[in-house]
Amino acid sequence: MLVTRLSFENFRNLEDSSIQPVPGVNIVYGSNAQGKTNLLEAFWFFTGGRSFRGAKDAETVAFGAQKAVLKLEFTAAGREQEAELSIARRRSAVLNGVPQKAASHLAGQFCAVVFSPAHLSLIKDGPEGRRRFLDAAYCQIRPGYIRVLTEFQRTLTQRNALLKDLRAGMGDGRLLDIWDERLAASGAQVYAARTAYIRRLAKPAEEIYAGLAGGRESFSLRYESSAGEEGISPEQARERLYEKLHGSHDADLAAGFTTVGPHRDDLTVEISGLSARTYASQGQQRSAVLALKLAEASVLREVTGEQPVALLDDVMSELDVSRQDYILNHIHDWQVFLTCCDPSAVMRLSAGRAFHVERGRIREETIA
Ligand SMILES: Nc1ncnc2c1ncn2[C@@H]1O[C@H](COP(=O)(O)OP(=O)(O)OP(=O)(O)O)[C@@H](O)[C@H]1O
Ligand SMILES: [Mg+2]
Repeated sequence: MLVTRLSFENFRNLEDSSIQPVPGVNIVYGSNAQGKTNLLEAFWFFTGGRSFRGAKDAETVAFGAQKAVLKLEFTAAGREQEAELSIARRRSAVLNGVPQKAASHLAGQFCAVVFSPAHLSLIKDGPEGRRRFLDAAYCQIRPGYIRVLTEFQRTLTQRNALLKDLRAGMGDGRLLDIWDERLAASGAQVYAARTAYIRRLAKPAEEIYAGLAGGRESFSLRYESSAGEEGISPEQARERLYEKLHGSHDADLAAGFTTVGPHRDDLTVEISGLSARTYASQGQQRSAVLALKLAEASVLREVTGEQPVALLDDVMSELDVSRQDYILNHIHDWQVFLTCCDPSAVMRLSAGRAFHVERGRIREETIA
């Protein structure tokens, strides 16, 4: 995956123009509130995904304009391609001259991973975000997994509804066993998917983390599951989940919802043997999220043969010089876009291109 040109019209505060990035590292630098994140957001929209900063489509159209237009020229699947997005109240897309039914159909045609400071919640906050990360990442490499998740979620909702009825003195208690079996069956598939994904993710994540930390810290991932330890077969996971669900009737009835299962599982991230959520420093948290995100991209490359573009928003702050140097000069074979405020980062980049953003105007600079 290689972006060769991006042009934009009426997009946020960016002055209508186009940029031509290079294959390696592209630094987007400038003071606060000049349009750096806006530029990354423009790239991201071509993945078909929603804004990584939670914006509604209409909010990205320049104030006073009716419609924003973004055009992307990129190489993927061995050929040159062109995508165009029009954003008004909603987004519409054209790929290689063919109008798409929905902008989300660009998913899989143009791939990117994004790091934004909001993603630090992946380490700092509760397990829900980590489960969502695992599920979304696995869906990208096995689209059929979405059906498994939907089935699991539906069964869980039904079991919870029955628990509420039973608590209110209604419903048939014998039905609970049927929901135990169904939830154990789909839950075991969720378990199998997440553990399979973590096994693939672990190695690239460890390598990237080691690069960032100069080999001075270790990094490991572990799935904490109600089905038991890692490495059991899906059939064993189904049996264990069934036993757990069956054994938790009293607790579930008291709570009014299902207290065990994959919807309570967690991905534990450890740095040098300590829980990152509890003990990691700011720089370690950033490094850990970055390792997870870049490893996600690396798994995607293994599966699709295509290297996603890395969009790194404000990743450098709180990182020491050696970690910054790793990001600037040691991530090879990737096209990286990274934003920062500190112009000295540009001096430390050994090859690549720099874009200075000032009040929405982008000026290109070549690095010696
Ligand atoms: N639809 C829009 N039309 C015009 N301007 C907008 C629109 N949406 C956002 N902006 C402006 O874009 C400006 C720059 O935003 P952006 O988030 O890209 O800054 P930044 O360079 O990443 O800054 P920081 O370093 O603080 O993260 C904001 O100050 C905002 O007022
Ligand atoms: Mg920003």
